[in-house]
Amino acid sequence: MKKIGILTGGADCPGLNSVIRSVVRKGMMVGYVVMGIKNGWQGLIENDLRILDLRQTSGILDRGGTILGTSRINPFQNPEHVQKIAENFKRSGIDAMIAVGGEETLKVALGLHEQGFIKVVGVPKSIDNALSGTDYAFGFDTAVNIATQCIDRLHTTAESHHRIIVIEVMGRYTGWIALEAGIAGGADIILIPEIPTDLEQVCKDIEARHSRGKTFTIIVVSEGATLKNDLRKNNESSAERRRFSSIGEFVAKTIEEKTGYETRVSVLGYIQRGGAPTAFDRVIGTRFGIKAVELIKEKKFGQMVSLRKNHLTSVGIEEAVKQRKAVDPELYEVAKVFFANVEDM
Ligand code: F6P
Repeated sequence: MKKIGILTGGADCPGLNSVIRSVVRKGMMVGYVVMGIKNGWQGLIENDLRILDLRQTSGILDRGGTILGTSRINPFQNPEHVQKIAENFKRSGIDAMIAVGGEETLKVALGLHEQGFIKVVGVPKSIDNALSGTDYAFGFDTAVNIATQCIDRLHTTAESHHRIIVIEVMGRYTGWIALEAGIAGGADIILIPEIPTDLEQVCKDIEARHSRGKTFTIIVVSEGATLKNDLRKNNESSAERRRFSSIGEFVAKTIEEKTGYETRVSVLGYIQRGGAPTAFDRVIGTRFGIKAVELIKEKKFGQMVSLRKNHLTSVGIEEAVKQRKAVDPELYEVAKVFFANVEDM
C-alpha cells in the first residue's frame, strides 16, 4: 500500500491542522504518498485532491481551521454523489484514507467503508466532545478555554453593573462546553441539553441569591439546553431555532421579565471554533494523526483513533457513533455545589 488520503469534514475546529501535519510527516516517514482531499466529501465528489508534502504542512500547527477546507455535505443524500465518490476514489489510486471529523463525517465514512467503496480509518474531532468511543476529541479543550476566558470577562462587567449575564455556548446535543467552562468560570447556574431545567425555579434561585446580598449572576447556557415547559414556538425545527433564535436570548428575556433584574446576553458562537488550538489539542491532534497512519499500516480499517486514560487505542467507528457521549453526572454534581440555589457559607 503506497497512497493514502486525508479529508476534514463537518464543522471546522482548532487542531485539524495538527492532525494533517502529523499524518503527512508520519505517512512520508513510512513510505506513503499523502493526498489531501479538499472540502470534506465534496472533494471526492469533485475529484479535488492534491499531494501534500512537508512544504505545504510546515508552519500550520498553531493555525485554526483546516488547510484542506471543509463542508457539511452528506453524500448519502444523493446516490449520484456516492457513485462519484466510489469512482474518484478508485481513479485516485488511494489505497486507504483518513476521515477527520465528528459524528456526521464518521457515519458517512462508515457507510462508504461498509459498502466496500473506500478503506477508511477515523480521527475524532468535536468541539462539543460529543463522540463516545474516546475520552476526548480534539477541539474541545480549545473551545472550553475560549469560553472560560469569555466568562471571566463577562463576570467583571456583570459585577460592575449589577446585572445578570446569560452566556450562550455551543453544544447542540451535549453540555460539555457549558459544564466545563461554567465550572472553570464560576457560573452560578448552568443549563445543558441532558438535564431539563425549570426557568421558574431558576428565577427563584436568582432572587434568593440576590436577597442574600449578591448583585449579579452568571448563567451559562448550552445552545441546545432543554427547558421544562418550554414555551418557545414548537413549529420551528431545532436547526432553524439554532440558527435564527438563540436560547440565550429567550432565557435572558424570561429572567428579566420575571425577576425585574437587568439582564444581558452574550452568544459566544463561532468564536469558540476559531483561532489557535491549545497545547492540549495540538498534542492530541498530533498523536491522533500518527496513530491513524499506524492503523492504516496495520490494515485496521473501519476503526477510529481513540484516547483512553491518555493512552492511544482504537475503537470500531460503528461503536463510536452509536450514541452521543452525554455529560458526566459526577461533573454536574461538582458544578451544582456552586449553583445559585446553594447558600453561601
Ligand atoms: O458540531 C460542532 C458545532 O460547532 C456545534 O456546537 C454547533 O451547533 C454547530 O457545529 C454549528 O454548525 P454550523 O457551523 O453548521 O453552523
